[in-house]
Amino acid sequence: MKLMVTNIVSDTPTVKIFTLKHPLRDTLPPPSAGAHVDVRLPDGKIRQYSLCGDPSDDSIYQIAVRREDDGRGGSRWLHDNVELGSILHVSAPRNNFPLVAGADRHIFIGGGIGITPFAAMARAAQQAGEEFIVEYCVRSKGDAPLLPALSTTCSEQQLQLWVGDLGERFRAASIGAPVAGTHIYCCGPSSLVNAVREATSDWPQDQVHFEVFAATLDENFKPEPFDMTIASTGEVLRVPADKSALDVLRGRGFIVQSSCELGVCGSCECGYSDGTVIHRDAVLSVAARQDRMLLCVSRARVAVTVDF
Ligand code: FES
Repeated sequence: MKLMVTNIVSDTPTVKIFTLKHPLRDTLPPPSAGAHVDVRLPDGKIRQYSLCGDPSDDSIYQIAVRREDDGRGGSRWLHDNVELGSILHVSAPRNNFPLVAGADRHIFIGGGIGITPFAAMARAAQQAGEEFIVEYCVRSKGDAPLLPALSTTCSEQQLQLWVGDLGERFRAASIGAPVAGTHIYCCGPSSLVNAVREATSDWPQDQVHFEVFAATLDENFKPEPFDMTIASTGEVLRVPADKSALDVLRGRGFIVQSSCELGVCGSCECGYSDGTVIHRDAVLSVAARQDRMLLCVSRARVAVTVDF
């Protein structure tokens, strides 16, 4: 979709909130709490941004973008070039990080700009009357994206702010032992994500959820070639070590959706059977990995049959 920027707010010295609207239509594909959109940059590269506005409002999307001077350039371009009336190429929302329906309690743990999905998720939980708490870790109070929005949504008991400059630290160990019906969601810097992963290692995996927007690929991984059978045709394609399954499929004329090509957006997901897959994505749950894989980064040992 080509969406128009109708409002820009400097939320903190480094974070801008962009409001996007369809120039002709009153409604957009409905957002849901935890969803993100892909934004296409002028160089064709794609960036994912969580929707941080009210998930029950389908007239606009809102994204919060932290300017990363040392990043890959997307946030710099958005900060420096986008103004009121600019048109951005934006995908429909995709949700790899949904609020679990029927949970007794949600614990949202966000660090810095990783708080963005929780602005929408806390609002959805509040609207549904569900129990939740937001653990929000920031360096300083002046650099806490979406704090005003969260303070409006949450009661004092529901929002716990941890300010690093004041010596306050969220202790992941405080999560404690597994509690049936409680779901934990985490998004933020890798130090926070790793601490929460470790602290919840004895929790059932379907009660712990992570949202990751940067590739988490192991640089020491040595890719091996493998054979890929196309379930619908029986055709067997060789995936060499220096190409992805996605590259090979495209090279043979198959049309496969993709976006980030880093294993973080989920758009190249497909089914598989008859093989051992080396999962290298940051999206699929343990359960989903039994029969789903992401073609842009995941590979197979020896051979696999793919169905897309
Ligand atoms: S293209 Fe984004 S996960 Fe494969």
